[in-house]
Parts: sequence; structure tokens; C-alpha cells
Amino acid sequence: MKGRNAVITGGARGIGEAIARALARLGVNIIIWDVLADAASATSASLNQEYGVKGVGLAVDVTSEASVTAASEQVIAEFGSLDILVNNAGITRDGLLIRMKEEDWDAVLKINLKGVWIGTKIVGRLMLKQRRGTIVNIASVVGVMGNAGQANYSASKAGVIGLTKTSAKEFASRGVRVNAVAPGYIRTAMTDKLTDEQRQRMQALIPLGELGEPADVADAVAFLASDASRYITGQVINVCGGMVM
Ligand code: NAI
Repeated sequence: MKGRNAVITGGARGIGEAIARALARLGVNIIIWDVLADAASATSASLNQEYGVKGVGLAVDVTSEASVTAASEQVIAEFGSLDILVNNAGITRDGLLIRMKEEDWDAVLKINLKGVWIGTKIVGRLMLKQRRGTIVNIASVVGVMGNAGQANYSASKAGVIGLTKTSAKEFASRGVRVNAVAPGYIRTAMTDKLTDEQRQRMQALIPLGELGEPADVADAVAFLASDASRYITGQVINVCGGMVM
């Protein structure tokens, strides 16, 4: 893994930051694409200090093909290749389906699903040319099992799973693997918004009995990004304490 170059979208904080850290620990150079430009730069600078890897944080909106194209060109110019892409950026705008506003449906689908398609298209093209590369998409267990109050989010994550399998089929013959990790409930800013009652109800659904940590997701991503998983493509690994079996 040493000397490889990884882009992590939404890597400025939360699960994305943990993924960046797990890859940096393996000697991978880290490029963070996030709308939070200052936080992205701060995270990549700290990884540079801690692990001695090259790190850069770029202001990128994953929903803009122009923004992603310009950032990819910058990565190739500065780093020479792009070996790993982790499509992690995502948002929630929860609400019951019959009350959901169109803008909340559109915002979630645009970032969580269209954003993954744009990243896969632009970076995938480079990887196909290199005949080497691996893509890991961050889905969610609710894309597999559904969740009341998350019609937009669960549809976007189910979409990510379909997109993962299709891109895996299209890219396999050129040595590019595409997999997904579907986290369950993980302790981050996203789940900090939950009330104690919601959290307790959630914990009761988890066979292993507790929320996961961002590092639990990051370790699965690092495995899928590495050669240890060279014979695995088009798969979804649920990191969810057994919620989905
Ligand atoms: P977070 O909100 O802490 O981090 C998301 C990051 O994405 C932020 O840095 C944000 O600035 C960035 N981002 C948002 N829109 C963007 C855009 N248009 N372009 C570029 N960057 C953008 O969220 P968290 O919890 O770390 O989630 C990361 C991923 O994991 C998401 O895809 C989420 O859906 C997924 N996930 C999270 C779970 C959890 O329990 N926290 C469970 C299952 C999946």
C-alpha cells in the first residue's frame, strides 16, 4: 500500500476521516475532497505529520462533474496516479415519506447517489486507463433493510449498492475492483443528533449490543482497498454489529 494515492470524498470528518487515517497508517498518500475545505486541509496536514504520508485537502463538491474533473486532473498532476477512491460523502434529511419535501428528496439523492456516480465515472476512467485501481463506496444497512423516516436516504443507499455491482461488472476486465461497505449505526456527528430514546431503540436491534465506531468501518474499507482483497469485487460488506445477516 505504501506510496499509493487515495482520494476520500467527505474525508474532512467522521467516518471519512477515520478511513483517511486507516489508509495513512498503511503508508497511503491521502487526498481529501470535501466541501469543508479548511477541515479537509487540517485533516490531511495532521496525517502528514503523524504518518509522514503526502496529504492534501481540496475543496470539491461531489455533485459537480466540473469540480470532480478539475480535482482529478490536479491529483494526477501532483501525485502521478490515483489508485484508490472511497466515495464516502453523504448526508441525511430525514422525515416521514408522505411529509417529505421534494428539496429533501433531491438533496439526498444528489449527494449520496449522483455524487458516487460522478466520482466513479471520472476517477474510474483514469483507473481503466491505468488498468489498475480500486473503488470503495460507502452505502448503509438501511439501503438493504429500509428504515422508517429515511425514504430518501435508504433509496440513495440502495442505489449505491446497485451502482457498485454494475460498475464492478463494467470495470472488472481492466483490473479495477469496486465494492461497498454498508455501515450500521456508527458513532458520528450524524448519529449524535439522535435522542437517547432513539439510540436505545437502535441498540436493541444490534446483536453485538452497541453502536460501532468510525474505525470499524475504516478497517473494512482498508481491506477492500488493499491487495488482500484482490479476488473480491461487486460485494457489500455490512459493518453493523450483526443487524443485517
Ligand atoms: P459526516 O456528516 O460526519 O461526514 C460527511 C462528510 O461529507 C462531511 O465532511 C461533509 O462536509 C462531506 N460532504 C457533504 N456533502 C458533500 C459534497 N457535496 N461534496 C463533498 N463532500 C461533501 O457523516 P458520516 O457519519 O461520517 O458519514 C459518512 C458516510 O457514511 C456517509 O455516506 C453516510 O451516509 C455513511 N453512513 C453513516 C452512518 C452513521 O451511522 N454515521 C451509517 C451508515 C452510513
